[in-house]
Amino acid sequence: MSAIRLDGREIAAQMREEMGREVAHLAQEHMLRPGLAVVLVGENPASQSYVRSKTQACQELGMHSVQLDFPASLSTEALLGTIAELNADESIHGILVQLPLPGQDEERVLNAVSPEKDVDGLHPVNLGRLLRGEEGFWPCTPHGVLQILQRSDVEVAGKHAVVVGRSPLVGRPVANLLAQKMEGGNATVTLCHTGTHDLSYFTRQADILVVAAGQPRAITDEMVKEGAVVIDVGVNRIEDATRERGWRLVGDVDYAAVRKKARAITPVPNGVGPMTITMLLYNTIEAAKRLGGVQ
Ligand code: GUN
Repeated sequence: MSAIRLDGREIAAQMREEMGREVAHLAQEHMLRPGLAVVLVGENPASQSYVRSKTQACQELGMHSVQLDFPASLSTEALLGTIAELNADESIHGILVQLPLPGQDEERVLNAVSPEKDVDGLHPVNLGRLLRGEEGFWPCTPHGVLQILQRSDVEVAGKHAVVVGRSPLVGRPVANLLAQKMEGGNATVTLCHTGTHDLSYFTRQADILVVAAGQPRAITDEMVKEGAVVIDVGVNRIEDATRERGWRLVGDVDYAAVRKKARAITPVPNGVGPMTITMLLYNTIEAAKRLGGVQ
């Protein structure tokens, strides 16, 4: 058996087409142009690449976008000042501070973003709303994972979903969303992490396996049940002398081996990655509509 490839690029393209129409409608009917500010501190090459993709995706949809670049030496206080200005800027509906920050106080910075502009969904208010099943902003990667499952007609309700990784950015919110009593949720969820004994005991039980462990190719074929749906959130740069740039991207799942056993699997790159950016655009449009009083 060879798995169906869950192509995040295709799903993202389909969603972006829908959102492009919505952006045009908001401009024509409501004189509203959703605006996103992306803040990058320091010169981490992976972060620079993510931020470029986010800003570019915004522009492609006809949205307003601002990218603010600061040196790694920026003080937490100065960064908080910038966030306060963006909170007050009426042309900006979404604010994203690219993580990790090179030394600034991440908690204070994330807490300073207005929850109504927190399109990253990382403010405690939005994570609290998520936990309570209230309307807010869901973090982009977990939201993207749910969209891939839903738009690929993967049945989630009543299935056993196993999540590997408990980060506040991905593992914890995605486990919570999959368990929620809602469309696209209602799974029985097991959350595994670095403290889990005998990880493969759990992963082998998964009907749906979501891996956000941050470990290149940590999930091998013997850890996966025949016919499982596998979502690989990992993005790892590994050395590759055959490439001119000297590296390539791999996920947290051994794709070549696991695809022979799974029913469906996301590749890396072009799986979850394009969906993360798409859900950021989605949240920014939602933020603009809510702040602009359009529904
Ligand atoms: N760094 C890696 N992923 C993310 C994300 O989803 N949001 C932010 N702000 N930083 C990240």
